[in-house]
Amino acid sequence: MSESSERLLVTAALPYANGPIHIGHLAGAYLPADLYCRYQRLKGRDCVFICGSDEMGVAILMRALEEDRDPEDIVDHYHPMIRDNFEQLGMSFDYYGRTTSDTHAATSRDFFRTLDEKDVFKLKTEEQLYDPKAEMFLADRFVVGTCPVCGYEEAYGDQCEQCGSALSPTELGDPRSTLTDATPELRETTHWYLPLGDMQPDLEEWIDTHPEWKNNVLGQIRSWFNDGLKDRAITRDVPWGVPVPSDVAERHGLDAEGKVIYVWFDAPIGYISATKEWAEAQGDPDRWADYWKDDDTKLVHFIGKDNIVFHCLMFPAMLMAHGDYVLPDNVPANEFLNLEGRKLSTSRNWAVWLHEYLEDFPPERKGADFLRYALAATLPETGDADFSWEGFQTRVNSELADVLGNFVNRTMTFATRYFDGAVPPLKEPSDTDREVLDRLGDFPERIGAAYEDFRMREAVFETMALARLGNKYFNDTEPWHTRSDDPQACANTIHVSLQICASLSVLMEPVLPQAAQELRQMLQLTDIRASTPDGPGDGRGWDEAGSPLLDEGHALGEPTILFEKIEDEIIDEQLDQLKEDAAMTEPTDAVDGAPYADLKEEVDFEDFTKLDLRTGEVIEADPVPDADKLLRLEVDLGFERRQVLAGIAEQMEPDEIIGRSVVVVANLAPKEMFGLESQGMVLMAEDREGEFTPIEAHAEPGAVVR
Ligand code: MF3
Ligand code: ZN
Repeated sequence: MSESSERLLVTAALPYANGPIHIGHLAGAYLPADLYCRYQRLKGRDCVFICGSDEMGVAILMRALEEDRDPEDIVDHYHPMIRDNFEQLGMSFDYYGRTTSDTHAATSRDFFRTLDEKDVFKLKTEEQLYDPKAEMFLADRFVVGTCPVCGYEEAYGDQCEQCGSALSPTELGDPRSTLTDATPELRETTHWYLPLGDMQPDLEEWIDTHPEWKNNVLGQIRSWFNDGLKDRAITRDVPWGVPVPSDVAERHGLDAEGKVIYVWFDAPIGYISATKEWAEAQGDPDRWADYWKDDDTKLVHFIGKDNIVFHCLMFPAMLMAHGDYVLPDNVPANEFLNLEGRKLSTSRNWAVWLHEYLEDFPPERKGADFLRYALAATLPETGDADFSWEGFQTRVNSELADVLGNFVNRTMTFATRYFDGAVPPLKEPSDTDREVLDRLGDFPERIGAAYEDFRMREAVFETMALARLGNKYFNDTEPWHTRSDDPQACANTIHVSLQICASLSVLMEPVLPQAAQELRQMLQLTDIRASTPDGPGDGRGWDEAGSPLLDEGHALGEPTILFEKIEDEIIDEQLDQLKEDAAMTEPTDAVDGAPYADLKEEVDFEDFTKLDLRTGEVIEADPVPDADKLLRLEVDLGFERRQVLAGIAEQMEPDEIIGRSVVVVANLAPKEMFGLESQGMVLMAEDREGEFTPIEAHAEPGAVVR
């Protein structure tokens, strides 16, 4: 990110308005984006932060069908809820739109038309999956089957959530309708395709100009390039979405009736339409174009990793083909957040929902700051991360309250009691005083560099390091002693500590906006630039926070307690509630009501004997980079060793499988995944909850199983 850029346009993935938001969403895209934008605004940069609800597409329609309601009702219910939760958590969007708006429909249809007129698309008439029971073509999430890339059996028709690959429904092995469970038939239909295959060279050339992108992002992109990009259908035969413009269909002698634009085509255009609506609301309707069409703009997309293919390949390909728009400067995707060591799951209700969290930890009691801080300190930036309630309590009690809050409180109390609530003068500072002020000077740049580089966790850690420095300095200089022995030394300690508090009130603003404001209130520090779009854009900001911000003699306000500690009972209640909710959900969702897997077709004994099953001992097990679900196993078959990739990483730690005697399909054709060859398969029993148990053999390695 060059510092001289004129404008920043920051987006956070538009959440589907088909359900509430949980902490995993927050940690994936919204919180890091908000930290980044607040920091940039404090730097005095022109930064516009865009988000909104993704209200089209199959995800919404599915929920509507499940609940027997209209899609409009679904989005009208969840959009305001999500918007308000974001606001309560301090997400400082300049604009939060929705993709059911007229501006959005017009913008995406125009975009589609422009590409069509430039003959960017291919039209293909092909056989597609059709559900004869539901009388509907099965697009995207209406069909699941086996991923051709990684073998995951619950891959969606447009994407495999295990390996992230973009898919077409017809590529799935063993496809099933999620509407009726029917096996789909093939029927002919015509669709518009974005020829990503042809565009691969241009995309590769462009990606090559961004070696600075995060490794997890570049790694995924490279593996898709290696496999070769495929053309993607960008229209659908489903009854919910932005309609294909009829004039565009007529150009090709087609009827647009029943055809809509694929949600992953229209949704990212939502960033553009929301920027237009923002500009209109600013009373400067053309201003959106400065952010989208001027090369001086840096466009940054914050997303979770399941969105990488769309933001790094598909949307850029659309923007390139259009020609008028800037391309993203960076796409800092995060990995996934787990909860109490288990994968977050909406269907199993294993999640901390924001609307529920906010009831128990309301913003008035700094619930927003608590969660922002606890999540920011453990963001899944380089790999998956875990949120636990105990960890949350420790962050709040031992870091926010004991370090930051304590330092501020000691300093303010001393200043109020012994210095008449005013900033005492600094006279003949000691070496220690001078050294601390010196070190203070380095913090804005150090923390800022971490934000610029999307190392949010480090930025937050360095912010807290300033509070630690303050505390240590306060302890070392012992103002409670010098107060009687050496009053000027005591005054110097309080002077320097107050300056640190003042700097903290700016530097902690991105992550702890509520406490930062309260601290500035205590300090009566009134001329600080805002980190939100609506506050003052002038005043002192980030770069000034390395130098003393308070004048000698400046009158302070009343000390208040910045952070109340969280009692153990509160945490226990949350844990109990989490488990209870999950237990209540599972019966209907997974166990009692869940069907046993269907029996497969009968096979002859001959067929069965074709399988060579052997006993093997697991010698090694390690994670596979970029593949969350896979473990790489080394298995000893007695006569030789095999490398086997097993999709068990979410359920088993490497240690739990090492040393076990398992059953291996030893004559399965080798298969490459994530650059590694899998030479066989380890048998697992999968129950109706999707839990795996390895089949253990307890025989010598190499023993034949039959
Ligand atoms: N709704 C999508 C999801 O939750 C994200 C859409 S991002 C956008 O995965 F770019 F398409 F807007
Ligand atoms: Zn896959």
